Amino acid sequence: MANFATLKLDDKEINLPVVTGTEGEKGLDIGKLRAETGYITFDDGFGNTGSCTSNVTYIDGEVGILRYRGYPIEQLAEKSNFVETAYLVIHGELPTSEQRSRFSQLLSRHAPLHEGMTRFLTSFPRESHPMAVLSSALNSLGAYYPHLATNNHQRDLEYFEDASAIAISKVRTIAAHSYRVSRGLPLNYPRPNYGYCENFLHMMFSEPYNEYVPTPEVASALNLFLLLHADHEQNCSTSTVRMVASAGANLFASAASGVCALWGPLHGGANMAVIEMLKNIHADGDDGTRFIAAAKAGKGDRLMGFGHRVYKNYDPRAKIIKSSFYKALASLGIKDDPLLNIAMKLEEVALNDDYFVSRKLYPNVDFYSGLIMRALGIPENMFTVMFALGRMPGWIAQWHEVAANSKLKIYRPRQIYTGSPQRNFVPINLR
Ligand code: ACO
Repeated sequence: MANFATLKLDDKEINLPVVTGTEGEKGLDIGKLRAETGYITFDDGFGNTGSCTSNVTYIDGEVGILRYRGYPIEQLAEKSNFVETAYLVIHGELPTSEQRSRFSQLLSRHAPLHEGMTRFLTSFPRESHPMAVLSSALNSLGAYYPHLATNNHQRDLEYFEDASAIAISKVRTIAAHSYRVSRGLPLNYPRPNYGYCENFLHMMFSEPYNEYVPTPEVASALNLFLLLHADHEQNCSTSTVRMVASAGANLFASAASGVCALWGPLHGGANMAVIEMLKNIHADGDDGTRFIAAAKAGKGDRLMGFGHRVYKNYDPRAKIIKSSFYKALASLGIKDDPLLNIAMKLEEVALNDDYFVSRKLYPNVDFYSGLIMRALGIPENMFTVMFALGRMPGWIAQWHEVAANSKLKIYRPRQIYTGSPQRNFVPINLR
């Protein structure tokens, strides 16, 4: 197997070293291309660019493989839980029982917010988008914990255990509090004796005289949703986190930038778009047949929750989430939901239709996750917030990789300039 590729440019020939990953992935190292030839590479949208090496997550989209730190997602979904998987993603190894209980204790200890921060949250207008609140509140953690957010990576890494537990635990409290504020409801403080998911659901839905206690199926559906979103290598928000971290920014600022990127409808908004689509189909009195015909003819919207830039096979997360979804529905007593019936019809038709089969368009995780969130009573404008809760361990792990890299260079892509050539300034009276 070649260990370099030869590139012939004008009258020059240069060798580009081949970089090989642990699973045999191959890339060309073009680091010296510009210095030696004056050329840069051009890859609009980074579809073919490896921006870093990373030890966190492996994806093979052709086969439908997703592994965190080497462990298949199917095994983690069956045998682990979100908190343990978060530890694995962040620290690189499954925790011993001692490490796991210490991590859980840290999460409990850091669940309540500083009272000043609670006041900050309650001062947002009720109609604020929860992603705007989340990104601001997450960044403000750097103000409440300045010793953990010095913007000096070496110093910030000394407190990484605390900072990472604070980020994971408080993002959940911030999310729940901002929901209560948006409804004008009293805040529910976290309970130290509750698990991660139970505590979130309690902070969301308990009322002064009615404690919300989720069924095990509901808690487990949420747990699985979060676990399945824990990392997904160099997607838009994670690349943003790494980009910001590469300038030396602290964990909270970098994670807040990830929330901003995730807010975009092309990234974190797809699960919401699935529900919108199902509602529109229902409002049109369609059972999905007309919608699919229009999508195939390119005359209507795409079938949201189908297809994936990386997975050209069944999204492994979609397979896993589907069965837990039905258990949660049964435990909540949800049977004849018209949107659910439409979703099932769409799935059945698309999986047997040559248009979708030949284009390798399978259900992605968002197809079911929106339905799960809806069944759990999470409002639609919080679906992306839930994604952020799940993705926090991945952002933390990827921040750590950047911060701990002793040979770190600031990320600074180049461009091909296509603007006006040099011209002379025109005085205002002549424009
Ligand atoms: N419905 C109908 N047709 C589709 C769909 C869809 N959901 N997705 C792709 N196609 C068709 C395209 O029209 C195109 O057809 P053509 O070859 O006849 O022109 C072909 O499949 C390839 O489409 P691309 O846009 O090139 O595929 P790409 O890999 O770039 O897009 C994407 C992936 C953006 C996810 C796309 O499948 C899509 O828009 N899906 C719906 C939105 C969605 O569910 N997004 C969530 C992604 S998962 C996540 O972000 C966590």
